[in-house]
Amino acid sequence: MKYYNIITFGCQMNIADSETLAGELEKREYKATNNLENADIVVINTCAIRDTAEKKILAKIGGLKIWKKTNPKRILAVGGCMTAQKEIPTNLIKTFPFIDIIFGTENLSNFGLLLDEFVKTRKKQIQTAPETKVSRCVEPKRDRQINAWVKIMYGCNNFCSYCIVPYVRGREQSREKLEIINEVKNLIQNGYKQITLLGQNVNSYGNDNPEKYGNFPQLLKEIDKIKGDYRIRFMTSHPKDLTKELIDVIANSEHICHSIHLPFQSGSTAILSAMNRKYTREQYLEKVKLIKSKIHDVELSSDCIVGFPGETEKDFEDTLSLVQQVKFLNMYMFVYSKRKGTAAEKLEQVSDSIKKDRIKKLVGLQNKISAELSKKYVGHDYKVLVEGFDPKENCYVGVTDSGKSVFIKSDKNILGEFKLVHIESCKGSKLYSNIIK
Ligand code: SAH
Ligand code: SF4
Ligand code: F3S
Repeated sequence: MKYYNIITFGCQMNIADSETLAGELEKREYKATNNLENADIVVINTCAIRDTAEKKILAKIGGLKIWKKTNPKRILAVGGCMTAQKEIPTNLIKTFPFIDIIFGTENLSNFGLLLDEFVKTRKKQIQTAPETKVSRCVEPKRDRQINAWVKIMYGCNNFCSYCIVPYVRGREQSREKLEIINEVKNLIQNGYKQITLLGQNVNSYGNDNPEKYGNFPQLLKEIDKIKGDYRIRFMTSHPKDLTKELIDVIANSEHICHSIHLPFQSGSTAILSAMNRKYTREQYLEKVKLIKSKIHDVELSSDCIVGFPGETEKDFEDTLSLVQQVKFLNMYMFVYSKRKGTAAEKLEQVSDSIKKDRIKKLVGLQNKISAELSKKYVGHDYKVLVEGFDPKENCYVGVTDSGKSVFIKSDKNILGEFKLVHIESCKGSKLYSNIIK
C-alpha cells in the first residue's frame, strides 16, 4: 500500500486544486493519510498571496528535510502559486535540494505524468511554464459528501495593482458550460448538498467566448434548474462586474444562497483607483444598495486591505465608514504585503506600525458589527446545512442560507443534513440553536 499527504495553503481554489492532485494520486493507487510518517509522497500546494504565506511554506518545506532523509525513497513535490513565479523553482532547489518535483498552477493536469516520470527515472521533474490548451478535467478526489468545489474558470485578467494572482495563474479561461453543468448534476445525484462555484472573478465567466458559454448569470440559471435539495454558492465576485442581471437571477432562484462575497478592498476612491479596481466607493455602495433591496435577507461578506501604498489616515477612515455603513456578516482583513513584480511594488510603502494600528482598529470595528448583526438572528427559525462539528463547543455547526454559522446541540450525528433550527441565544457573534425538525 502507498500513501500520500497533501498540505494545502491559500484559498478555496487551491483546496479545489489539491482535490485534483488527490485524484491523480488515487488513480495511481495511493491512499490518503494524515500521518506524515506513513506517507510515501508529500505534496505541498503553495500560495503566494502574502509574504506571511510564503514564509510559512518555506518553514514547512525545511521541516520535511528529516522526513526525506529518514527514507530517501519518499517523494516530495511542491506546486501551486508560489512555484509559478519565475525565479522560485531554481531558488527552491538551491535551498532545498531534497525536493523531487516542482510544478506550477497551470501544470496541474500534468502532475500525474511528472510523478510517473520521477518514479521511473528518479530524476527531478520541474515544470512551471504554462501548458497550451490542456485538458484540466482530471477527476478530483473530493472530501465528505457535503461540500463540493467546482472550478468554473481559471486565471485572472484584472491586475489589481497589489495582487500576484494574474502572474501566477495566467489569463482567464472559462470551462465548458456543459462540462460544468454535468459535473454539478452528478454531484447532486451523488448526495452533495452544497456546490461552490469557483473563479478569481466568477462574474467574468464566459467573457473569453460569450457565444459559446454565455455569461455567469445564465450559467447560474441553468444550474438552478437542476432538481434536488441542495445549495449553490459562488466566489469571488468582482464588484465592477456584478450586474443587475446577476442580482435578479439570485433573487429569483431556488437554490442560490442569499449571500454574496463582494470584496471592496478599500473605502477610499483614491486608493481604489491606485489599486486598479475600476470602481469608486459610491459605485460599490450603489451595488450594495441594489443587492439589499432585491435579495431577501441577503448578507454580504468582503475582503479588505489596510496599509496599501499611499493610504492616508483619511483614506483609512473612509474604509472604516464603509464597513460601518454596509455591515458585512464576515470580513477577511489583510495587511498589505508587497508582492514582487506587481504595479504597487514600486510605490511608497506605509510603515509597519501604521499598518498594525489600522488593522487592529478595523478588526475591532468588524467584531462589533458581527456581534451586532448576530443579535437579529435570535428568536427566529432558519434552515441550516450541518457542515461540521466543533469539539470545543461540543456542537454541530450549521450554516444559514445567508452564510451565518450557528451551533446546534444534537446527540445524533446530523452531519450533512438540512435542519430547521430555532436560534435561542447569542454570545458575542456566536449563535446557539435547537433543532425544530
Ligand atoms: N480573486 C479574488 C481573491 C483574491 S485573493 C478577488 O479578487 O476578490 C484574496 C484576497 O487577498 C483579496 O481579495 C485581497 O483582499 C487579499 N490580497 C491580495 N493581494 C494582497 C496583498 N498583496 N497584500 C495583502 N492582501 C492581499
Ligand atoms: Fe487579484 Fe484582483 Fe484578480 Fe482578485 S481580481 S485575483 S484581487 S488581480
Ligand atoms: Fe489562492 Fe494564494 Fe494562489 S490565495 S490563487 S493560492 S496565491
